[in-house]
Amino acid sequence: MYSKYFTMDFSNILIKWYLQNKRDLPWRKTTNPYLIWLSEIMLQQTRVAQGTPYFFSFSEEFPTVFDLANADEEQVLKLWQGLGYYSRARNLHKTAQYVANELNGIFPPSYTELLKLKGVGEYTAAAIASFSYNEPVPVVDGNVFRVLSRYFDIESDITLPATKKEFTELARQLMPKDDPAIFNQAIMEFGALQCVPKSPNCSVCVFSNSCAALQKKKVDVLPVKTKKVKVTNRFFNYLILEDVLGNTLIQKRTAKGIWHNLYEFPLLEAQEIVDFDFVSKTVQNDIFSNYTILGIEDCSHATVIHKLSHQHLHIQFWKIKINEIIENGVDSVSLETFPFPIVIYNFIKKQEINC
Ligand code: ADE
Repeated sequence: MYSKYFTMDFSNILIKWYLQNKRDLPWRKTTNPYLIWLSEIMLQQTRVAQGTPYFFSFSEEFPTVFDLANADEEQVLKLWQGLGYYSRARNLHKTAQYVANELNGIFPPSYTELLKLKGVGEYTAAAIASFSYNEPVPVVDGNVFRVLSRYFDIESDITLPATKKEFTELARQLMPKDDPAIFNQAIMEFGALQCVPKSPNCSVCVFSNSCAALQKKKVDVLPVKTKKVKVTNRFFNYLILEDVLGNTLIQKRTAKGIWHNLYEFPLLEAQEIVDFDFVSKTVQNDIFSNYTILGIEDCSHATVIHKLSHQHLHIQFWKIKINEIIENGVDSVSLETFPFPIVIYNFIKKQEINC
């Protein structure tokens, strides 16, 4: 489909660029499938700069898959706090237990077997198989879609499963079979550093003579992505109780959905942004009618819009002083040890000064 000359050149130039420009990243210094798996789960939907400190803390706290398997879920979630997409952490923990207990700590030895692990999709299986076992399977992520669609001027819609197949096949042809790992690392690195989504500096690009999109002035329209994510707005009001001992109340989110198994303050979810009167009435007549309410304070300085991939959370915090002692109340020191969504944790940290 694509000329032999172009495809051979592509890989050679790409790998040469990689060897001269690659970042010094810790997971590139190992072929241990446990560490590669850990890094790849962490780097899904996450930038390298954000994920790297978590890679260090996890690999230090849990040097082997047995250490991770034997940890409490709460400890894993606490260490994951701030990285987002918490189902990754829960799957990570479950998969570690599966590998440790059912597979004697040995990761499945091939792409096809790796795919059977919970939380391991095509991308992650290909990354582990190529980086750890040198199996010639191409990784196809957002970087790869971008680089290949531009270089070869491919207009297929990257949200379609058929397009994923098309790019996987192309990457497979381009990949040098004697060193698939370097090709996979190189194409991802090239997408992350040079062929970036917005305003790439094509004048200094090693492909400036052969990139089809550059020649046709199509760099900013490729890759083609049609489906727009539908964003739901939600309106959260967190109720920070403070009893006569200075203790507060938290609860575990056990329902399916965002922040499953993380902790939060009692939540009043509304259909829109609500005012003091609404919260005051609802709290006194309904949610906390069993307490004597001494005062309610709107922590408006802490209001925040927290953007998740499919939801925008409009979050307000309200402090409510009561004249009783909360059963199972939590003091301010132990409060910080629970795993919270990062917006709530930030509120807890800042509250020492404000509100
Ligand atoms: N993003 C996902 N996997 C990566 C890797 N192995 N190196 C750099 N960035 C990545």
